[in-house]
Amino acid sequence: MAKSIKILDTTLRDGEQSPGCSMNLQEKLEVAKQLERLNVDAIEAGFAIASPGDFAAVKMVAENIKGCIVSSLARALPKDIDRAYEAVKHAEAPRIHTFIATSDIHMKYKLKMTKEEVLQRAVDMVKYAKKYCNDIEFSAEDASRSELEFLYKIFEEVIKAGATVINIPDTVGYTTPEAFYIFIQNIRNNVPNIDKVDISVHCHNDLGLAVANTLAAARAGATQLECTINGLGERAGNAALEEVVMALNTRKDIYDITTNVNTTEIYPTSRLVSKITGMKIQRNKAIVGENAFAHESGIHQHGVLAHKSTYEIMTPESIGLTTNKLVLGKHSGSHAFRERLKSLGYHLEEDVLDKLFQEFKVLADKKKSIYDKDLEALVEAKTLKVKEIYKLNQFVINSGNTITSTASVRLENDKNIIEEVATGFGPVDAAFKAIDKIVGKDFMLEDYSLNSVTEGEDAQGEAVIKLKLGEYIYNGRGVSTDVIEASIKAYINAINKMLNELELQKV
Ligand code: KIV
Ligand code: ZN
Repeated sequence: MAKSIKILDTTLRDGEQSPGCSMNLQEKLEVAKQLERLNVDAIEAGFAIASPGDFAAVKMVAENIKGCIVSSLARALPKDIDRAYEAVKHAEAPRIHTFIATSDIHMKYKLKMTKEEVLQRAVDMVKYAKKYCNDIEFSAEDASRSELEFLYKIFEEVIKAGATVINIPDTVGYTTPEAFYIFIQNIRNNVPNIDKVDISVHCHNDLGLAVANTLAAARAGATQLECTINGLGERAGNAALEEVVMALNTRKDIYDITTNVNTTEIYPTSRLVSKITGMKIQRNKAIVGENAFAHESGIHQHGVLAHKSTYEIMTPESIGLTTNKLVLGKHSGSHAFRERLKSLGYHLEEDVLDKLFQEFKVLADKKKSIYDKDLEALVEAKTLKVKEIYKLNQFVINSGNTITSTASVRLENDKNIIEEVATGFGPVDAAFKAIDKIVGKDFMLEDYSLNSVTEGEDAQGEAVIKLKLGEYIYNGRGVSTDVIEASIKAYINAINKMLNELELQKV
């Protein structure tokens, strides 16, 4: 009988630590709800003490997500643990995750503590956290570079103190599958009370081995795997959830391990996280990349047409990927539209569906054929909620290769319609400068990219923008059949997120 393994998702904590990947409160809740649909066993919702925003996000996730554990990270310090518990206490299944480094390098240079002090602190803090809640995860940071004998001791003692999960992180992505397999086996064989707890692993991807190391640990007897969507995370990221889960699923013959993950939610989750963080997925990324199920060469196409199994080891449907069929046109009615959205897995409120149908009609007037991906883009633009403080009213651009580009942009807010004119290096730059004048701020454009949503001459353009104000980065996204309009919408979307955030901070 196959063994079941738990999946902890840390996209909202370690994933959010990737540069430029920060998410606002509303976005974190959207991701958490999607993780709930994905059916992960545990969500690490953040690091409650890190900032008031982090605290609010962990609390919101804890109060709104059902059917899985919600945890907050905490250093091995009473004030961190107090804050972590305060944030998760209303969760259906709260967990405090406390950590301290155990490698000689970290203890000497970072903590400036002796082994004995680290051991004592770990035990004291697990006991301290245990007063608040039963479920305590203890991580030995930089475990893979720690002395094994010391790990055996610290794990044995924190388990006695009440830890329910011991986590073995490869914090700097240093280990290899062969080494990690033996490492986990050694811990299993030398910590006498290990059978009382879950054995968790948390692998970073510095050598591109995070998924392989995680799978090796699963074979060696780990019972919880920590992952992130699209492999987001510190530096080169963490083990990608979609890769770990699909490897276990596809190679049951080797692993004989199952997870509770609803794999058909993998693709929607990956897209959502990419949209929200503005972190694009490389085309050839395993499982969720654009090319993962595309067969380009004649030989492959011939083989797949003859029988899918020739070149496909898993089906696109198993990860919730639609075949991007030509689905609707301008004569399609509301019923067909709603049915198609339902079959794509969207369950939307009536008023949202009505608005979407109107937008679909506008799009269908501009674009002959509407594909599944066009529908996804429409839905995502509507459902990634951000209060529209500014809305595009109209714009006029004058541009050419022998003249300076000029943009006149008109935005509306709930009080006024405001218009500004600006010149710039090209039409997009001119439009952004006009918007800066309206908003009265000078933003730094950190990143700007433009992609087509589908193929074909009339494809919609999708613009993704990262705007910097002070130390914060705000992502924006806009979709339109006109790439300048898509860019302007993305810019306004990022500004609205920023203004919403500033509003929240005032409260
Ligand atoms: O990589 C790491 O060691 C961590 C711990 C805090 C679990 O993220
Ligand atoms: Zn980490």
